[in-house]
Amino acid sequence: MPPIPYAGTRSRLGWAITGSGHFFEESLEVIGLLKNVDLFVSKAAAEVIRMYKSRLPEGMRVYRDTTAASAPVGLFYEGVYHTLVIAPATSNTVAKFVFGISDNLVTNVFAQAGKCRVPIIVFACDTAPELETRAPGGIVKVWPRRIDLENVERLKGFEDTTVVESLDGLVAAIDERMRWLETSFS
Ligand SMILES: Cc1cc2nc3c(=O)[nH]c(=O)nc-3n(C[C@H](O)[C@H](O)[C@H](O)COP(=O)(O)O)c2cc1C
Repeated sequence: MPPIPYAGTRSRLGWAITGSGHFFEESLEVIGLLKNVDLFVSKAAAEVIRMYKSRLPEGMRVYRDTTAASAPVGLFYEGVYHTLVIAPATSNTVAKFVFGISDNLVTNVFAQAGKCRVPIIVFACDTAPELETRAPGGIVKVWPRRIDLENVERLKGFEDTTVVESLDGLVAAIDERMRWLETSFS
């Protein structure tokens, strides 16, 4: 069968959130500033959002992790997205990305974006040997393991993938991408 001709408009930003308390609220705030965003929510993210008594930004399409085959990934084949952002990304999700595992909605959108050559921005949160993070009960100290830090480094070698390690870095990477899209397609 011949390939389906490319017919997409690439007019939307895909954004996946995972179950990381670290920078969870801040990532939601950034999403709230953007237009034409579709959200992909991991099962853990759906739980964490309740634990932090937080809310998803309103007025967006939200895809939850309810099917084994991650049906919404078909949108990547249809050319709907110009960019995929994964923020915040847990060390669990980063590890799965690095080893090519696609067994849930977020790991599938990452894999399919990669296979469809959609540029990806990942905000990896376990990026320093010692971090302060906000648990539902307050600020706690955590010490990401060597494997967590190594996986972030491995992810930096992926094609079409920008890894950022701070909120400022995330905002700057999105801004740069939006400006590039504006100048290239205006
Ligand atoms: C309140 C809470 C906060 C969490 N924060 C983090 C975090 O900052 N970083 C992290 O890697 N995992 C964190 N986790 C653990 C992840 O949610 C867990 O590894 C989960 O399996 C990740 O699934 P996902 O990667 O599919 O979203 C947290 C869990 C809870 C309950």
